[in-house]
Amino acid sequence: MTQSPRKTPKDSDIMSIVSTLTRSTPEPAMSTDDTGQHTPMLDVRGLRKVYASGKRSVEAVRDLTFGVDPGELVCLVGPSGCGKTTLLRCISGLLETTSGEVVLEGKRVSGPPEGMAVVFQEYGRSLFPWLTVWQNVELPLKEKGISRAERKRLTTESLAAVGLADFHTAHPWQLSGGMQQRVAIARAVAYEPHVLLMDEPFAAVDAQTRGELEDLVRALWERLGVTVLFVTHDIDEAVYLGQRVVILSSSPTVVLEDVTIDLPAERDQLTTRSLPRFTELRAHVYERVQQAKQGNRPSTPTATS
Ligand SMILES: Nc1ncnc2c1ncn2[C@@H]1O[C@H](COP(=O)(O)OP(=O)(O)OP(=O)(O)O)[C@@H](O)[C@H]1O
Ligand SMILES: [Mg+2]
Repeated sequence: MTQSPRKTPKDSDIMSIVSTLTRSTPEPAMSTDDTGQHTPMLDVRGLRKVYASGKRSVEAVRDLTFGVDPGELVCLVGPSGCGKTTLLRCISGLLETTSGEVVLEGKRVSGPPEGMAVVFQEYGRSLFPWLTVWQNVELPLKEKGISRAERKRLTTESLAAVGLADFHTAHPWQLSGGMQQRVAIARAVAYEPHVLLMDEPFAAVDAQTRGELEDLVRALWERLGVTVLFVTHDIDEAVYLGQRVVILSSSPTVVLEDVTIDLPAERDQLTTRSLPRFTELRAHVYERVQQAKQGNRPSTPTATS
């Protein structure tokens, strides 16, 4: 692989490379249940999670119900400790629910589902330091039983898509934080998930890198048609990225409000963030999160837009 000269990828480079990446798996279809009713691709129904160890128990999530349609990009916001990571762990099958269920593409989740990939905040811990960038991205594909030639194609394409084509033989510790997070995103994208879960993936990077990574996620999402559930503390980020923002109450968690983000689909950091509607939506979500922090919760879960 070409190693030098090394250069930090620029946003414009990344956007042009993303346009060459295409999804090879079929688009997930809209589904209906036995009665012909529309059912979301990802369906969280009455999810409750109580952590119990010995005599101590913590009810992290009380009663969460919401759905995500195929190809949607939904952001989740809520006070710190309200159960966002717990929720994502339950959705990804890494944690058993206490009651309620998660249904993905019509199948109840009872372990890590095949069509799902997760990007966590702690890229430092999620990448294997003794493996190269290439090997980190390729590893889950090996485990999936994908042929060598196909692994090569997927790994090459996804690293190019995140602007790391020149860094195949580097090790994670030789990269900046933002670049390491790009590796984590490339690894998730190479897996060709139908659903991509992201848990505060950009919390540890600087503001400028964060903006670039936000645009990278939107570009990949548009290009690949993948369904994205994105957890963030950052209200501006949620409004900028999402088609919907689901606001969670404080723990034990329920949905406080499900806000439709009616901003134009074409978004860019300068224009979108300067729109009066962006300011309105941000103010609304901010107010609701403040209410959530003060313990405000609906008597019954709401879904308004
Ligand atoms: N393994 C665990 N055992 C016991 N309690 C836990 C465990 N993991 C989380 N909790 C508790 O569950 C609640 C929700 O935690 P969680 O990490 O899901 O919140 P969060 O919304 O992701 O927080 P943050 O915004 O800070 O990332 C907290 O009260 C936390 O202390
Ligand atoms: Mg968390």
